[in-house]
Amino acid sequence: MSGDAGAFDALLSEERRFSPSEEFRAHAVVADPGVYETAAADREGYWERWARELDWFQAWDRVLEWDPPYAKWFVGGKLNVAHNCLDRHLDGPRRNKAALVWEGEPGDVRTYTYWDLHREVSKFSNVLRGLGVEKGDRVAIYLPMIPEAAIAMLACARIGAPHSVVFGGFSPESLADRINDARAKVVITADGGYRRGGIVHLKANADEAVRLCDCVEHVVVVARGAGITGQGQVRMEEGRDVWYHDLMESASAVCEPEVMDSEDLLYILYTSGTTGKPKGVVHTTGGYLTQVYATTKAVFDLKEDDMYWCTADVGWVTGHSYIVYGPLANGATVLMYEGAPDWPDRGRFWEICQKYGVTIFYTAPTAIRAFMRWGEDWPGRYDLSRIRLLGTVGEPINPEAWMWYHRVIGGERCPIVDTWWQTETGAIMITPLPGLTDTKPGTATRPFPGIEATILDDVGGETTAGYLAITAPWPSMLRGIYGDDERYRATYWSKWDGVYFPGDGAKRDGDDYLWILGRVDDVLNVAGHRIGTMEVESALVDHQSVAESAVVGKTHDIKGQSIAAFVTLKEGVEGTAEMEATLKQHVADKIGAIARPEMVVFTADLPKTRSGKIMRRLLRDIAEGRAVGDTTTLADPAVVQRLKEKYEEEGDA
Ligand code: WTA
Repeated sequence: MSGDAGAFDALLSEERRFSPSEEFRAHAVVADPGVYETAAADREGYWERWARELDWFQAWDRVLEWDPPYAKWFVGGKLNVAHNCLDRHLDGPRRNKAALVWEGEPGDVRTYTYWDLHREVSKFSNVLRGLGVEKGDRVAIYLPMIPEAAIAMLACARIGAPHSVVFGGFSPESLADRINDARAKVVITADGGYRRGGIVHLKANADEAVRLCDCVEHVVVVARGAGITGQGQVRMEEGRDVWYHDLMESASAVCEPEVMDSEDLLYILYTSGTTGKPKGVVHTTGGYLTQVYATTKAVFDLKEDDMYWCTADVGWVTGHSYIVYGPLANGATVLMYEGAPDWPDRGRFWEICQKYGVTIFYTAPTAIRAFMRWGEDWPGRYDLSRIRLLGTVGEPINPEAWMWYHRVIGGERCPIVDTWWQTETGAIMITPLPGLTDTKPGTATRPFPGIEATILDDVGGETTAGYLAITAPWPSMLRGIYGDDERYRATYWSKWDGVYFPGDGAKRDGDDYLWILGRVDDVLNVAGHRIGTMEVESALVDHQSVAESAVVGKTHDIKGQSIAAFVTLKEGVEGTAEMEATLKQHVADKIGAIARPEMVVFTADLPKTRSGKIMRRLLRDIAEGRAVGDTTTLADPAVVQRLKEKYEEEGDA
């Protein structure tokens, strides 16, 4: 578990409580405290009521078919996700409402009404069909945070081609792994994107990746514009590569949406697990859309005139569910920003909030900790008085960060929804309801109505401190790991019988609130990004100088966790500062900059059990500067002492 038990015991005695204001309560989307009981008494009926708020081409015969660990929701129902996000808003006043308000990092701005977005998506759907993409074919999307990312996703959904969005910060090799695993036929990328004033050359990365793939027939390239003069500089491979704008020019704006079965594949999204190979989390259509729709509306208290901003990247699940599908299914106005929060200065986010009159703001604790460090002056320069609700996601939020968010960004008037969920859960699972729940800094509070979550011990007994467990199927649950059924069962369903194991530790307090304590497996959470220790270890041993490595998480003030790598070099190689820099860069090149280790400690030996298993627990103790735990099972206990001395010598950076 990241974080130590003592600190969490202190958390559980948290006395501060914040009730929604009378004003907020009076207008809340969910205002009836009986909702929890109603939902629990008839879970299927509850979800069915939400599903009815969507447009179905054909109604379902059964709400749920549960054959653990396989669930089917809204069995027999037919619908199309893009139709629900676009077409159904075109008949009323939403037609001319802004669907997407986008700002690029250099300051370029584009706004799409629902009518506009529908047209662009329909055209791009025809473009994809013209490139030979048929229902069921996979499409990889490797784009910056530009409107075309949302357009591409919705176009895939419209024609029934599952997308696999790959975060633009991933390396060519990581992209290639994902393209190959999904056997993607088409890759959609851009000549570049902006990040902190620099240009990320996505097409060049995609070229390198596609060289390692034999399944890709076409690469569609978006010209990002705003000073990126890709045309001319970008190498276009004849017959394979095509410019987005060339194809869009002649594409028809009429495209009938594919009639999809409720259980047809909507997308695959890769996420880190406990092995070296990322897993392709599979999401389907009807249940997923129902839960992202319901949670967006209820948790963010979404109203017709809100300006909603989720700062995530579409490359992560938060961007899928809470930038694209949830808000657009609700007919919301979504703000999308391309770049970094500190470019050109540390006031950029607040400048954007003021400029567009943001009312709902959803971000990650790691960002909040960075804002705290940058100081109150930055938000203080802007008018944030339109903000009425704040949200967080991605990692446990420490009470100081929560209080700062409440006071400085929320002006002490905004409810904060601390939302727990995962790539695998597809949508929010544990969260306050802003018009009902008394919040306490640091807890995600209670399961959303219709969700059954509890805390279990190793043998499946109820306890107040142990593992978080989801005890009933939910509509947006993953339907599997792409092409790896065995791993699906083993990872999530083998700990207890018919109960989902998310991999997080949790505690329950006297109010029955759930406190999520972080991962209990070998998955790190660095600045809200999931990274498997094994992935980083594989990247390290891939370097010619490395004999062996072990990677652990280390508490970090802003990122939550940072990566500490313990490395044994091959005979004759010296552990110099250059070697340290080389290995850090090697990991960044192999996986992406988010996986760059913060420190590399060279050691002659790693602590191992007599059977040769590396004892990561001891390495975590060393990295955290804690008293080292039980070493009696080690083959050579002296290794730990030597390592500890070495670590302290090298400076506990
Ligand atoms: C962690 C992001 C505490 C948790 C949507 C989970 C959280 C992992 C919270 C999933 C929260 C997410 N409080 N921990 N509110 N939200 N986590 O798949 O460890 O990128 O298992 O999904 O983030 O990360 P993922």
